[in-house]
Amino acid sequence: MTPDEFRRAGHALVEWVAAYRERLAQGDLPVQSPLRPGELIAKLPAAAPEQGEPMERILADLDALILPGVTHWQHPRFFGYFPSGASLTSVLGDMVSTGLGVVGLNWQAGPALTELEQVTTDWLRDLLGLPAEFSGVIQDTASAATFVALVCARERASDYGASRGGLQGGGVPLVVYTSAQAHSSVEKAALLAGFGRMHVRAIELDADFRLDVAALEAAIRRDRAAGLAPCAIVATCGTTATTAMDPIASIAVIAGRERLWLHVDGAMGGNAMLLPECRHHWQGIEAADSIVINPHKWLTVAFDCSLYLVRDAQHLARVMSTNPSYLQTPMDRQVRNYRDWGIPLGRRFRALKLWFALREQGAESLRARLRRDLANAQWLAGEVAAAPHWRVIAPVVLQTVCIRYEPPGRSAEELDEHARRWTQAVNDSGFAYLTPAVVGGRWITRISIGMELTERRHVAELWGAIQRAAETAAT
Ligand SMILES: Cc1ncc(COP(=O)(O)O)c(C=O)c1O
Repeated sequence: MTPDEFRRAGHALVEWVAAYRERLAQGDLPVQSPLRPGELIAKLPAAAPEQGEPMERILADLDALILPGVTHWQHPRFFGYFPSGASLTSVLGDMVSTGLGVVGLNWQAGPALTELEQVTTDWLRDLLGLPAEFSGVIQDTASAATFVALVCARERASDYGASRGGLQGGGVPLVVYTSAQAHSSVEKAALLAGFGRMHVRAIELDADFRLDVAALEAAIRRDRAAGLAPCAIVATCGTTATTAMDPIASIAVIAGRERLWLHVDGAMGGNAMLLPECRHHWQGIEAADSIVINPHKWLTVAFDCSLYLVRDAQHLARVMSTNPSYLQTPMDRQVRNYRDWGIPLGRRFRALKLWFALREQGAESLRARLRRDLANAQWLAGEVAAAPHWRVIAPVVLQTVCIRYEPPGRSAEELDEHARRWTQAVNDSGFAYLTPAVVGGRWITRISIGMELTERRHVAELWGAIQRAAETAAT
């Protein structure tokens, strides 16, 4: 493709994306894709074409084949999982990143890539009210960041054991603590970092689904008595199911006393800390060794963009660094080489989409949108709590409302089955998209509010649809 052909196809594609977003705003696409398993595979040729095809045909197939297989996350009635905004500004930033085709192997291979990342991660850190001793790097996902955090915790506890015998070195087993409502990425990170399932503790919850501090202390005591070596605590700021906030201040005291690494998974809830009125939720955060926050969740930056902040960047670089001759440059002592701040060597110019999004919107409008979503969640929680047989089953801390319909005369198991059935019915209708989850041992439905296009009226429409679906599924 020549630059001129790109110009023509590119204009058409920008128009295509713009028209798509307009259709979403009008709400005329089914939120959940109606595609059946294998349907797209059956429609696609089994092999790549030998001869090139005209762009017009490829674009036509976008509409005919691909769009029906898309679940529309940017739809105003998408209430599933978590809000994953992809503001059009950040889409443009991403396009520039790909258009430049830069690979950040080291500072010299992409000076602007490195320095813009340094500046924008500092901007975000400051917007979140965190002290300047934290420095940041953009990772692809929170899962990767938490993995890096636990490797760093392991290496600190083992005095850089990886440079000796590593996991085969025969040291005392190290233990990781997290809450029973922590995201599955924490367990995955602990397993991949070599702690072993036997040494990952899922600590009990308090009545508000937060990590129970007394239970944490007891678990650490038990492990020490058994000759194990407590190593790290992963606290969650905004758990996946209910956005519960683990009591970081109390956890930090324990981590300090016991000399444990404290990693805070703020993938979702950390975004709320743009609002000064929310910061009490992560009081004590400055004592964390590492924090992860996903601007690709609630801050409208297109996936993927995960902010990993550390207090001791030298330790991170020592754990992650490799320094082959072909990557060494005369500037290495003066600059940040982000390849030493995470797993991949080659890095995308992700800071561009963050920079675009932060500049075009400004912090004030980001804060206003977060406040809008918080208010919408409180409004919905009020409606649900006031309706007969409906229950809000967890404190509405941020923008997620967890609900359950409990008409009389049914067993808990029947109510579980019913919750899953009516939630699926809403999704299958294409009108809105929700996620069921198990909280406190029972199936509930999560309503995660916060897409860029979601206004109060969409939440009100959803509440109507939910009541109808629950009634229909009940009979
Ligand atoms: C609390 C929490 N942590 C981690 C993750 C994983 O995020 P990622 O997809 O960036 O790995 C999620 C995603 O839902 C989450 O809610």
